[in-house]
Amino acid sequence: MNHLLDWPSIPDAIWEACLDRALVHASDRYGNRDRAREQALALVFFNDSLRTRVSMELAAQQLGADVTTVVPGQGTWGFAWGDGRMDGSEAEHIREAVAVLSRYATAIGVRLFASGTDLEADRTEARLKAFAAASSVPVVNLESAYGHPCQALADAAVVRRHLGDPRGRRFVLSWAPHPRPLPMAVPNSALLMAARLGMHVTVARPDGFALDEAVMQTARSLASASGGSVEEGADQDAAVAGSDIVYVKAWGGLGRYTDPAAEAALRARHGSWTMTQARMDTTRDGRFMHCLPVRRDVVVESAVLEGGATLHLDQAEFRLHAQKAILEYVWGLLP
Ligand code: CP
Repeated sequence: MNHLLDWPSIPDAIWEACLDRALVHASDRYGNRDRAREQALALVFFNDSLRTRVSMELAAQQLGADVTTVVPGQGTWGFAWGDGRMDGSEAEHIREAVAVLSRYATAIGVRLFASGTDLEADRTEARLKAFAAASSVPVVNLESAYGHPCQALADAAVVRRHLGDPRGRRFVLSWAPHPRPLPMAVPNSALLMAARLGMHVTVARPDGFALDEAVMQTARSLASASGGSVEEGADQDAAVAGSDIVYVKAWGGLGRYTDPAAEAALRARHGSWTMTQARMDTTRDGRFMHCLPVRRDVVVESAVLEGGATLHLDQAEFRLHAQKAILEYVWGLLP
């Protein structure tokens, strides 16, 4: 079964085929109207979304598939996860819910963010795996605890379209301030994506905000296979200077799992990491990237968003094109 739970477990040939297809779909939005006729997609959103929800619904429809969206507990029963007696407020267990959706749909997409409190469950993707295990049709990860593969494919296609061959070009993943300890799914996926593209990647983050070492190790392995490299450090200005892509993202430190108050206090001390136009001016005609939504003048100066040297709206658009490629993959329709 062709689940799409993350990219590192997917062979290079499929990653490359999906990347190529995303670019084809970008150049011909309505040219595949009958490609997925007699397929049906069920989307389950445990968390809020604008881009993922709308782009996935339209991607399925523009391929000719049926699509339906479920927000658990809002017009459906609440879903329980644990083992044992169900005497809480949830009326339906995830095992039956997903098994039932598998009888209606030929693929299921699920958004299921990190708990932020149980590091072992988050880093092992315990809930995503439980969801997939209950399904008898392919499952697409629409952002989980540690990964956002739909965003990663869209971002890779945007980088490739902007730079041509991105191998050897400089990609900075720059931490940003934020009032909340956001999950690491997007920074993890952006790092792995750039490493797989063969770029020279620098993760710029303050001390205390390192990404999970297992993810860093996977990125180093991907970079070693692609001819790229991965380094990290706390000097944001040095990292941004001379770079080609500045991918800005806020995330909470791993300390949130052990001492949330200390993590919040540390995060509040790094307001100077907001991406500024002055910093962007030190790049090599670099482009700002962000997955959106973005907090203006917290994560990035409004002047950067409005200055023209950005790819953030292209990234949002390419979610549509990339997810058509992903649906083709999970439904066995890749050319
Ligand atoms: N980038 C992204 O996944 O956006 P949404 O949270 O709006 O889906």
